[in-house]
Amino acid sequence: MKILVVGGGGREHAITRALSCNSGVKIFSVMAQKNPGIARVAERVLLKKITSIPEIVRFATENELDAAVIGPEAPLEAGIVDHLEAAGIPCVGPTRAAARIETDKAFCRRLMERHGIAGCPEYRVCHDPEEARRFIEDYGGDLAIKPIGLTGGKGVRIMGEHVDAAGAIEYIEQIGGDVVLEERLIGEEFTLQAFVDGNHLVPMPLVQDHKRAYEGDVGPNTGGMGSYSMADHMLPFVSRSDYREALRIMEETVAAMREEGTPYRGILYGQFMNTREGPKVIEFNARFGDPEAMNVLSLLESDFSEIVTHIIQGDLASSGVMFAHEATVCKYLVPEGYPDAPVAHQPLTIGDYGSALLYYANVKEQDGALYTLTSRALAFVGRGATLDEAEAIAEKAASSVSGRVFYRRDIGTRDTLEKRCLHMKEIA
Ligand code: AMP
Ligand code: GLY
Repeated sequence: MKILVVGGGGREHAITRALSCNSGVKIFSVMAQKNPGIARVAERVLLKKITSIPEIVRFATENELDAAVIGPEAPLEAGIVDHLEAAGIPCVGPTRAAARIETDKAFCRRLMERHGIAGCPEYRVCHDPEEARRFIEDYGGDLAIKPIGLTGGKGVRIMGEHVDAAGAIEYIEQIGGDVVLEERLIGEEFTLQAFVDGNHLVPMPLVQDHKRAYEGDVGPNTGGMGSYSMADHMLPFVSRSDYREALRIMEETVAAMREEGTPYRGILYGQFMNTREGPKVIEFNARFGDPEAMNVLSLLESDFSEIVTHIIQGDLASSGVMFAHEATVCKYLVPEGYPDAPVAHQPLTIGDYGSALLYYANVKEQDGALYTLTSRALAFVGRGATLDEAEAIAEKAASSVSGRVFYRRDIGTRDTLEKRCLHMKEIA
């Protein structure tokens, strides 16, 4: 089977690795910057912007590819799935219309409201700074300010955390006024990802990401500094009933998409805030999370290429999807100054990384040496019977790297986990 993987980050390296566990799979890759980990296993690489749809379609048809897995959101928004499928190449990834679940935050909230899906915070869609200002003043409480379109996870401003009311209004004026204003949710965040074939949804283990750049959850928001998952595939601050509720929200969302004539096929990513009233949807993404893909795909025991086939055929069943009962910890190394002023083109040396899995992301390989670029450089995933074991493996691997990079030592530690559980208890 010949499979196209679109994208060149840590997430796509994890997708590539999982697919190539089956020796019968040949990987074809399209990425803007050569990811050394993907390039090493790929049969052929097209170095191109991943939104260059005509070139990608040509590459896929010329090489007679059987399927495509789309990593990031930008090509989904550009309609890559519509174009590949029109050329006869089935995709794991939603059409442009179905990807609006991520690419249009107003669409997402209105869909949830139209179908009476639980977990939707109070919200207001605005297209004009003046209207937004009036809403903020009338509302009184804290709001989350979200640009309607894609922002790489860096566009949200939370009142009471990043900005006050005046700062919120200023921010909205700056970005032109198209925003969703949402009630500020208080709780602990968790990620539930699922394989979806249009009708059926098969969940993956729960993961918690760390958005903030620095230890102790301070500093600017990033694409995600690292993440962990537990051996039982749950999180200690998410009860069974919270989990069932989150899963039901995802299932109802898939059903709503189908009813509206835009069936959802691909990976559905639910970002939830576990609040006093249970899980609420922060957002949906139309793809795997990055870093969360590295946690779950490092645990996948089933043949990923078979799952791809079932998603495409529409006969996905949970019996075909097995994950190892182990904990995982993923730590990203990022350039000094990331995300606001990353120092790029700095040499990077990886030491003895033990049994950790190494996933390359945004690095340049030249004459056998590695250099940082402007985004997250590479990640290690530790797997273990317990979170402590997985953390020790990831930590040792991350500390083996020298160069002008940093990472969060606190991800996956006992201490951090206890803080999360305590926070949840205080909220309840
Ligand atoms: P997003 O780009 O929607 O993932 O938002 C980025 C981050 O902003 C999330 O991971 C949350 O930490 C925070 N956030 C988004 N929406 C809300 C909300 N309604 N209440 C509180 N925090 C939020
Ligand atoms: N880790 C968050 C995301 O992929 O959007």
